[in-house]
Amino acid sequence: MPRLIPVAGQKGGVGKTTTAMSLAAVTARSSRVLLVDVDPQQSATWWAERADEDLPFDFTNETDPGNLTRLRELPYDVIFIDTPGSLEGRDVLAAVLDAADFAILPTEPSPLSIAPLMRTISDVVRPRGVEYRVLLNKVDPRVPQDATDAEALLDGSGVDRFQTVVRNYKIHAMSPLEGKVVTQYSDSRIAAKAVDDYQRVALEMFAIWAHRSPVTVGAR
Ligand SMILES: Nc1ncnc2c1ncn2[C@@H]1O[C@H](COP(=O)(O)OP(=O)(O)OP(=O)(O)O)[C@@H](O)[C@H]1O
Ligand SMILES: [Mg+2]
Repeated sequence: MPRLIPVAGQKGGVGKTTTAMSLAAVTARSSRVLLVDVDPQQSATWWAERADEDLPFDFTNETDPGNLTRLRELPYDVIFIDTPGSLEGRDVLAAVLDAADFAILPTEPSPLSIAPLMRTISDVVRPRGVEYRVLLNKVDPRVPQDATDAEALLDGSGVDRFQTVVRNYKIHAMSPLEGKVVTQYSDSRIAAKAVDDYQRVALEMFAIWAHRSPVTVGAR
């Protein structure tokens, strides 16, 4: 059975869609991956349509989150779910988290992003007992101290996080317009670094799952 992995958080613009598309791309190198867009804003759908048939994973959108449990019958290993970032999306987010096996919660490293994230965790994630990891995103590669400070804040609050942080690279901002995902840039050192960030996030995720259950998500 596939694992349902929402990329979630009630703050807009922190990188949910970017994380979902990029992690789906690296995970698709070793697993059967579906990405489902449940955000009424449909940004992932817009991106996927521009990518046309070049996407390395399958893509669909689903406006009724009540249908999510049916996804488990599909022949995939991992199903990432891109979720809405606004408070109007609260019911959607609740339905998605009810069905989730593991949640990824991206945030920017600034305290003003971390505060609403903490609320999301205590209000909607912890009450469901769903395992999650916070992912620090858009970390300025020239200012690694930003990540260190944010990590201290998260660790001091007992929040679970990925060890890996995702750095801020222009390639991430440009890729939706170019109709590409991160693994489809082959010719630059920065692109390799951008892929490497998500590759390490994926490895951490697989290690967490391997630790929790004997099911291995793996080779096609
Ligand atoms: N690691 C990164 N490096 C550079 N730009 C990034 C990175 N992650 C996200 N961005 C950019 O930040 C903006 C917001 O990202 P994204 O749309 O993924 O956030 P979101 O949480 O899905 O937003 P929403 O709440 O509106 O759905 C986009 O312009 C995206 O390209
Ligand atoms: Mg989004």
